[in-house]
Amino acid sequence: MRYLVTGGAGFIGSNFIRFLFRKYGSDAHVVNLDKLTYAGIRENLAEYEGKKNYRFIHGDITNPADVAEAYSGSIDVVVNFAAETHVDRSLMEAGSFIQTDVHGVLVLLEEARKHAPNLKRFVQISTDEVYGSIERGSFKETDMLNPRNPYSASKAGGDRMAYAYAQTYGLPVIITRASNNFGPWQYPEKLIPLFVTNAIDDLPLPLYGDGRNVRDWLFVEDHCAAIDFLIERGATSEVYNVGGGNERENRDITRRILQMLAKPESLIKPVGDRQGHDRRYSLDTTKLERLGFKCSTNFDDGLRRTVQWYVENEAWWRAIKERSAEFRDYYAKQYGGR
Ligand code: NAD
Ligand code: TYD
Repeated sequence: MRYLVTGGAGFIGSNFIRFLFRKYGSDAHVVNLDKLTYAGIRENLAEYEGKKNYRFIHGDITNPADVAEAYSGSIDVVVNFAAETHVDRSLMEAGSFIQTDVHGVLVLLEEARKHAPNLKRFVQISTDEVYGSIERGSFKETDMLNPRNPYSASKAGGDRMAYAYAQTYGLPVIITRASNNFGPWQYPEKLIPLFVTNAIDDLPLPLYGDGRNVRDWLFVEDHCAAIDFLIERGATSEVYNVGGGNERENRDITRRILQMLAKPESLIKPVGDRQGHDRRYSLDTTKLERLGFKCSTNFDDGLRRTVQWYVENEAWWRAIKERSAEFRDYYAKQYGGR
């Protein structure tokens, strides 16, 4: 199988490429198209560089020439992870989110049309955030979309554009809406890696609002396995929720991280809330389960593995947190006045 993975230098994309090579070995051929934004780190996949079944292209999904180049080696499956992904950054500047998360999807779909006879699957990686917030109960795939921040609004645009190309041109599109991922290689701006790495250094953990917002947590390897499963078993034009079944309040996760690292709760620093902060995300995953897929990682085991990975890979995250001027500027802007 020949895969075009976009955004493969980021958190989930790099885990997915690793998953493919682990599962299929030299039967998997991967083209990784990535712009290497602040969140893209080519070295995440250094072990595959130079292998004949892996090719890295430094390019932008909004650029038709880069995208044409990426499709050129007769692709069977496209998995689009490339996106601007951080809600807090979308509150500072939303233009790049519209560019990549909406327009970039359009460019990928247009090129897909040219390769339609050979293309078996186009997977658009969407998010549970497109449904918006839910106080009680869980969202089904048929529920209305109600994105409430610039990130999720952009993702909803890409999600529906992919659907439109399935409906209009018969492209073999499926759309996955996953909940919050966690695991190794996650850029340390998101809740879990930020709090783990701050705690290791005895720095404050800036918990927004009352700390009682709820997210459903999905271990990244389970997400990768679900995507692989859906490439085989999913049906064209369909949307699939992918959840971990692990709803937790942020304050509970924060305490658990501190316990695992044997650090005091006094590191928790309540700070001003995120604007328009979605209270709770929750997915009904019956559709995926009925097809025969179940996550296999227990939340506590996944969190322990994640914490352990950050303990053992200090050089990776210190290069970002301490040596990247971009990260330091972002951190000062995001947390400085809170
Ligand atoms: P990430 O921020 O770690 O990585 C994004 C990658 O996309 C980076 O390598 C970046 O360089 C690349 N990229 C950005 N703009 C690009 C462009 N214009 N052209 C080519 N490459 C570009 O993100 P992630 O957490 O790995 O998320 C991957 C996908 O999964 C995204 O589409 C995101 O919306 C979706 N998703 C993420 C989560 C989560 O919890 N992280 C949950 C559900 C869905
Ligand atoms: P995040 O990892 O940014 O994911 P998302 O906003 O896409 O769900 O945030 C997860 C939760 O953690 C969310 O409710 C916001 C909260 N949070 C904090 O309390 N402090 C922080 O510094 C960050 C980054 C997030």
